[in-house]
Amino acid sequence: MKVVGISGSPRRSGNSEILLDRALEGAMSTGADVEKIVLNELDIRSCQECGGCDKAGVCVIADGMGHLYKTLDKADAIIVSSPVFFASLSAQTKMMIDRFQCEWMAKYMLKKAMRKKRRKGLFICVAGSHRNDHFDNARSVIKAFFATLDIEYCSELFCGGIEKMRDVDNEEKALNKAYALGMKLVKL
Ligand SMILES: Cc1cc2nc3c(=O)[nH]c(=O)nc-3n(C[C@H](O)[C@H](O)[C@H](O)COP(=O)(O)O)c2cc1C
Repeated sequence: MKVVGISGSPRRSGNSEILLDRALEGAMSTGADVEKIVLNELDIRSCQECGGCDKAGVCVIADGMGHLYKTLDKADAIIVSSPVFFASLSAQTKMMIDRFQCEWMAKYMLKKAMRKKRRKGLFICVAGSHRNDHFDNARSVIKAFFATLDIEYCSELFCGGIEKMRDVDNEEKALNKAYALGMKLVKL
């Protein structure tokens, strides 16, 4: 069982990455093989809407996404973590998602048979406020992303009221829940 965690925060060891790490620890405790990808450290361009994927359903931009496409393909479960930025996902997370337009094209327009196995997905999101509408927006984008990639939206962890670095260290309930959800994702 391979679990891939994607960290969408621009800051290392930020609140969302700490929760992601806890979830990955939970997954690891069940014997899963885990890998973490920090989007801000990859060299990724935004989707150029160039139409390069129209014919083959494959992205023509050669950059850090190449590694991500391959890694997600091998994954059995995927955990995406992102902070809420301006009532949505971080730019890093959204930019990565847009680069899966090639899979949307392959699946829905070219009717290409994609992978057989359905992968499991967990979404972790943190925010400075407690605004449900901000989490709703973020969830809606992740659900569209997961649906395109045949990732089942299994569970979510939203943690509001955390703003400064390591604020999440005081959120014992959320840290424990992240660990438990990581474990559960493997067992599902
Ligand atoms: C550019 C920017 C935009 C933000 N927008 C929102 C927002 O719309 N709603 C909110 O509740 N928090 C917002 N925040 C606060 C972050 O979600 C919060 O600080 C979070 O803990 C950061 O997570 P991280 O440490 O994983 O990066 C924003 C922060 C930044 C830097």
